[in-house]
Order: sequence, then structure tokens, then C-alpha cells
Amino acid sequence: MLIFGIETSCDETAAAIVKDGREVISNVVASQIKTHEAFGGVVPEVAAREHLDAINVVINETFEIAKRDFNITPIDIDAYSSTVGPGLVGCLLVGLNAAKALSLCYNKPFIGINHLQGHVCANFLESDIKPPFICLLVSGGHTQIIKVDDYDKQEIIASTIDDATGEVYDKVARLMGLTYPGGVKLDKMASDGDKYAFKLPCAKVKENEFSFSGLKTAVLRLVQSFEKDKLPISDICASFQENITKTLIDKTKLLADKSGIKTIVLSGGVAANSELRRKLFELSEQGYKTNAPKMKFCTDNAAMVASCAYFNPIKADDPLILEAFSRN
Ligand code: KG4
Ligand code: ZN
Repeated sequence: MLIFGIETSCDETAAAIVKDGREVISNVVASQIKTHEAFGGVVPEVAAREHLDAINVVINETFEIAKRDFNITPIDIDAYSSTVGPGLVGCLLVGLNAAKALSLCYNKPFIGINHLQGHVCANFLESDIKPPFICLLVSGGHTQIIKVDDYDKQEIIASTIDDATGEVYDKVARLMGLTYPGGVKLDKMASDGDKYAFKLPCAKVKENEFSFSGLKTAVLRLVQSFEKDKLPISDICASFQENITKTLIDKTKLLADKSGIKTIVLSGGVAANSELRRKLFELSEQGYKTNAPKMKFCTDNAAMVASCAYFNPIKADDPLILEAFSRN
């Protein structure tokens, strides 16, 4: 089964074609990072307009690659899918309406996708991972531990009570003068630093909660305690990264043990983080099966949307009337 996916929930205009939920035929992502860098974050109105400019180009390129490499044309596609939410509504509407138009035009079903479930499905791309597993989902807007009993049976068993992991990464990065989106830059700076240079706090929260606002404030105080030109950026980045990745992996392991599930996977943009991946793969030596999506499938992309349409679509009597939504 060939599914065409579209993703426009934030600042990436993306389209992809995926076979049977796992084999990526074509995968195109147009990033708006350059545009939003100047503002220090995503400006929703500007993002929506950029999606409008990019969507047809991205769709055409996705079909061109499928034709060139696999001789697949639009009439070979079995269904069209797009992210419905959560995300920026003005942005979502661009991809949603494009996918609905393609579905009407080629007389094939339209399938709506929840962005977070899409991230979980990034684990199925070019891999043989199967449920049950525990998924640590860490993105710019969410931090959750999800118990995935089956493709369409998922339960959120822990989540953040304040900032999301990617959000904290970007805010802490900004404190140190790293431009948006700072997460990946902080990750690079951390590789040259001493992770034990500074002791930062861990929030005392319930077993099913994360909290990162105290950590963020502690980094702010630490930064303020140095003169600007004497800031040990790499050491602060490394100490922060050690603290947050340890908290994330420790809790995920704890909840995996409690639920008796021995497979642990990552998803979401922060799943691209080098230290988080290292700590996850270390668990393989302790008897866990582990998986992290390939780097290109961690941050927002449409291949994960097309995979999710195959494994775990939003069930609706009339999918064509599905509306965009901003929050889960
Ligand atoms: O999943 P995603 O692309 O978008 C949302 O659905 O939010 O995640 C984007 C987030 C941003 O906060 C970005 O800074 C973070 O993922 N990110 C990283 C890394 N790569 C992306 N954070 C830490 N280390 C990275 N290597
Ligand atoms: Zn995302």
C-alpha cells in the first residue's frame, strides 16, 4: 500500500510517499529555519505564508523522486494523508487542504494524522520495530512517555507539567547566545564541554511527571554569575545536557520496568540529540531492545505521517470534514 503524507504543523513543509508504513519511497522537507532565525522563534503568520509558497513545489518534487526512482505516479497512490493537529492552525490548514484536494482529485481516501502519533511512527520507518514498546517522545512542544501496546493502542503514562524538552533546549541555548533553534547547536557545544563541571538541580515530581522550569532558572542564574566574555559555554551546555538526558532516560527506564516492557524507543526532534541517543543505546547492554529513528525522521517530516496513516490513522466517519486543531 502506497500512502502520500504531508506535514505542515510548524516550520517544515514536508511531503513523502511510504510503502506499507515502513519503506520510504520519497521524502522531501523544506525548512523555514532561516526565515524564523531572525525573530528568535517561529512566527505563526509568517510560517503559514511560507507553507503556502512551498507546498506545491514540495509535492511536485516528492512525485518527481518517486517517478525517477520507482516509476511511481500519482495514480499509484492508495491514500493521501496529512497532519491534522496539534500544531499551528494556519500552518496545518495548508497541508490539510492540499492533501484533501489531492484525495478528491485522484478519488482516493484522505487520512487524518495526529502529529504526536506521527512522531511515534517514525520508529517504523526503515526498521522492523513492532509494539509493544515504551516511547519517550521529546519535541519542541511535548514531553511524554507513551506505552504503545499495539499500533493503534497507545497510552500516555507520563508528561511534563511545564516546559517541553525542545523548548527548554531552545531557551537555555538562547541564554548562551546560540540562535534559534538552539537545541542542535547546544548539543554540538556540549560535546567539547565537561558534563560534571556544574551541578544542576533535578525537579522532585511525581513518577508520571517531568518538570524543567527549575532547571531552566538554575541555568539562568549560573549564566548570570559569569561575566559575559568569560562564560564557559561548552561546560554549561554539557552539564545541562547531562542533567536533562539523565532525567529523561531514568524515568523512561523506570516506567518501562514497571510496565514489564523491555523495548524502549525515542521520538520527536530531541530524539536527534547525541547524548540522549547514547544513553538510550547504553540500555541495550542491560537487556533492553532499543530504537531511535534515523536522524532525518526525528525532526518534523512527512514520512512519519504516511507511516502513521498506515498503522494508526485518526478514525473518522467522514475524514474529509476533519478540522485542524492546535492542542491535543
Ligand atoms: O519534533 P520537532 O521537529 O518539532 C515539534 O514537533 O516541536 O522538534 C523540534 C525541537 C526543537 O526544539 C529543536 O531545538 C529540538 O527539537 N532539537 C534538538 C536537537 N535537534 C532538534 N534538541 C536537542 N538536541 C538536538 N540535537
Ligand atoms: Zn514535531
